[in-house]
Amino acid sequence: MTAGGAEDLGISTDSEVRDQALAWSRLASDYERARAREDSLDRLTEWPAQRRLLGDVTSKSVLDVGCGNGGKLIELVEDGALNCVGLDISDNFLTPTAGLSLVKGDLSELGSVSELAGRTFDRILFLQSFGYSTDPVRTLRSARKMLAKDGFILLSRTQPIRYAVERAEKNGTSLGEEYFSSADYSYSNGWNDQITLSKRPYTISDLLNEFSAAGLWLESAAEPQLPEDARQRYPHKQAWMNRYLGILIFKLRPLP
Ligand SMILES: C[S@@+](CC[C@H](N)C(=O)[O-])C[C@H]1O[C@@H](n2cnc3c(N)ncnc32)[C@H](O)[C@@H]1O
Repeated sequence: MTAGGAEDLGISTDSEVRDQALAWSRLASDYERARAREDSLDRLTEWPAQRRLLGDVTSKSVLDVGCGNGGKLIELVEDGALNCVGLDISDNFLTPTAGLSLVKGDLSELGSVSELAGRTFDRILFLQSFGYSTDPVRTLRSARKMLAKDGFILLSRTQPIRYAVERAEKNGTSLGEEYFSSADYSYSNGWNDQITLSKRPYTISDLLNEFSAAGLWLESAAEPQLPEDARQRYPHKQAWMNRYLGILIFKLRPLP
């Protein structure tokens, strides 16, 4: 895996989740280095698409759950967002600007993060971080409670078909067998090959059912692709996208 996009490496059992702060504190700087490369899929495709779906953020408060170093939030504050909070289990944070606090915390326990108590936000982001929740529906319900009037959640996850393709290539099996398999699998990530992580497979219906169970409706979805100039400049990235598809982005609103 060498795409350099903000791929989520889900570590899903409770004991594995307990280890993820450690894993991410070891991975954080490698991840940010990969993300900063000029041919990173996050730079070329994912963040531009996420940013487009967020729209005008002037005077909007934003909570970025699993914010990494906080770089995306800093850009949003520069674009006019106010009173923003970034939360991440690793504390590999950039220096926060005015109007932004960056907090160490676990996204599976949003209700216990003191800096979030009594707060509401106009936008809540889960950008390639939702897969780390031990209880996805509970996490989304907690986020839903923190939405201000007219607020929405923007959530992106790796296309699950991508992992099924990887496993089918590795195991000599078929796409369908792997896509519908429920067995965890381990692999080394593309940012630091010394760290092996395990992942719980998921399907697109798993995701949609989680949104629904959390009382959210899907306003729109996107599957961003490389823009034409980037396809020409980085054919290896287009080849990767042709094989593994990229990410899904969902704009979710609370049911009344
Ligand atoms: C693939 S990175 C995405 C970072 C950033 N959202 C982006 O789009 O570039 C996943 C992030 O989730 C964070 N993370 C993993 N488990 C977490 C947890 N239990 N609570 C909070 N953050 C977590 C990691 O530290 C990492 O920064």
